[in-house]
Amino acid sequence: MSAAVNVGLGDRAYEVMIGPGLVAGAGAHIAPLLKRGRVAVISDETVWRLHGEALTAALAEAGVAASPILVPPGEGSKSFEMLARVSDDLLALELDRGDLIVAFGGGVVGDLAGFAAAIYKRGIDFVQIPTTLLAQVDSSVGGKTAIDTPRGKNLIGAFHQPRLVLADLDVLATLPAREMGAGYAEIIKYGLLGDFAFFEWLEGAGPKVIDRDPTALDRAVRRSVEMKAEIVAQDEREAGRRALLNLGHTFGHALESETGYGDALLHGEAVAIGMAMAFRFSARQGLCPGQDAERAQAAIAAVGLPVRLDQLAGHPFDASRLLAHMGQDKKAEGGRLTFILARRLGEAFVARDVDPAAIHAFLVSEGAGAAGAAA
Ligand code: NAD
Ligand code: GLY
Repeated sequence: MSAAVNVGLGDRAYEVMIGPGLVAGAGAHIAPLLKRGRVAVISDETVWRLHGEALTAALAEAGVAASPILVPPGEGSKSFEMLARVSDDLLALELDRGDLIVAFGGGVVGDLAGFAAAIYKRGIDFVQIPTTLLAQVDSSVGGKTAIDTPRGKNLIGAFHQPRLVLADLDVLATLPAREMGAGYAEIIKYGLLGDFAFFEWLEGAGPKVIDRDPTALDRAVRRSVEMKAEIVAQDEREAGRRALLNLGHTFGHALESETGYGDALLHGEAVAIGMAMAFRFSARQGLCPGQDAERAQAAIAAVGLPVRLDQLAGHPFDASRLLAHMGQDKKAEGGRLTFILARRLGEAFVARDVDPAAIHAFLVSEGAGAAGAAA
């Protein structure tokens, strides 16, 4: 098996293991972290139906009993209500601070279980076993945990790093093709924001990654995790460089808000169109060559991801409504808009105090309706 990627956070450092067979070997990796032979596994009903038996058997082989706590699949489970239910289930299991939670699922489960672990009895250890491509390359690494509220996404949460991440490429065999595409958006994000050579490789290898070619998939997941680990180790709390990981997210979150955080537009798809828009806005402002914006867009579109507003259900969107969502974004400080913009392919930067009128005009140029006034 190839070497694990280390997230260098001093006494909270941990490894991200990437490869096949990691669920089958989970007991051997997790048992050494336990004081007694039991864990609570938080998962969603779909993942548990497909892979729960394999994980339970793998843990049992190492003498670890697994108590499943299942939530419905989907963003709706990142709620206060589900957090309360999961916390109560953990209390009913009489888990104590020496025990461990396993988050077994996509980003929804990882964010919810991670937040439950952060606050349960003032903090308990957890292990991430991400089962979507998106969760393997992004959400399981770096310790951001959160739930949503009716006022917005990820607004209530905590930084709480896992003890270990097991990114098993085998579990992706059952992932729907559309979810592979959504995860791929976060992979190409790393190339676009900070590694031109990786971006160039993805221009050719992208379809292989989506088709789950084992070699291409391993390289894509590994390089993504390496980049995320390096950034998180430098800037765990997002005082600076970590914000680059939000490339495409300000436009993307606004579109997710308008489309209702559901099947109409998956998070990764929102990031895909958001990145294309961030490059086009950068080019429009004279910050980035137009040909780089076109190349970024072509590489995203090549795997079937959306790059323009008129490809989305909900088009035409209202420019002022989108702008209002951006003002609610966690990255908006004191009413000022922060965007991750691009200087060129492989070089993104944090742009603070972006003029809302320039964004409004850009959204209109992208096909959004201009009925309301610029905020
Ligand atoms: P998800 O967790 O909703 O999973 C997508 C769907 O795939 C679900 O229906 C799930 O049941 C199913 N699924 C999961 N694994 C499967 C498998 N192996 N086979 C078949 N089906 C499977 O979505 P996601 O895209 O993984 O995560 C999105 C969430 O991640 C969002 O809430 C987003 O805010 C969050 N996120 C967090 C971070 C972070 O740093 N914490 C980063 C990026 C995204
Ligand atoms: N997904 C953004 C971050 O982890 O910072």
